[in-house]
Amino acid sequence: MKSLVILISGRGSNMQALLESGYPRDCMTVISNNPNAAGLEIAKNYGVATIVLDHRSFPDRETFDVALAEKIDACKPKLVALAGFMRILSDRFVQHYQGRLMNIHPSLLPAFPGLGTHARALQEGVKIHGCTVHFVTPKLDHGPIVIQAAVPVLPDDTEQTLASRVLQLEHRIYPQAVRWFMDGCIQFIDNRVEVTNSGSDGMMLYSPGLPE
Ligand code: GRF
Repeated sequence: MKSLVILISGRGSNMQALLESGYPRDCMTVISNNPNAAGLEIAKNYGVATIVLDHRSFPDRETFDVALAEKIDACKPKLVALAGFMRILSDRFVQHYQGRLMNIHPSLLPAFPGLGTHARALQEGVKIHGCTVHFVTPKLDHGPIVIQAAVPVLPDDTEQTLASRVLQLEHRIYPQAVRWFMDGCIQFIDNRVEVTNSGSDGMMLYSPGLPE
């Protein structure tokens, strides 16, 4: 089985969803830039290999990214999955992993790239919100989209209620996208992602309101 590297910085709930996805855990390695990331304990409890690489012990972004790439490449991963990895990555790093670096973002991209997505969605009064799994490119939160999940924004939603509804769907679509990639079902057509030979679960938009 091909190896999967998961990069985290904090809570690690998306990482946990990946650990629970059925993909063999002995093929997974979790790397955190934050020694206090709660996700590290979760990974250890699942018996998954963990590595801590504290970005604060490096003089600059480039040096950290080179060291991070060394750790990642030692695992010979087929895919690197960012799961709440709160670091801007240098262009060189991103290019090194072109086509095999995925991220989960808590909005329906290209709407609301960056931070504070749920508050901004509420502020803009959008009626639909959600999350996106995409490939990472040098432009922040703008790479080819693999799968999206949509939720309605309800009149009494707060940032927290909306975030938690979206997070439930993050945990559903990220393992799906990773599985597609690991199974070799993902093809790039120009800047678009196509899912092929995935059987009946090739739906690239998930919304609880839509028939499955
Ligand atoms: C998630 O909302 C994810 O979409 C974003 O960062 C958050 C990480 O949460 N990239 P967790 O660490 O996976 O719980």
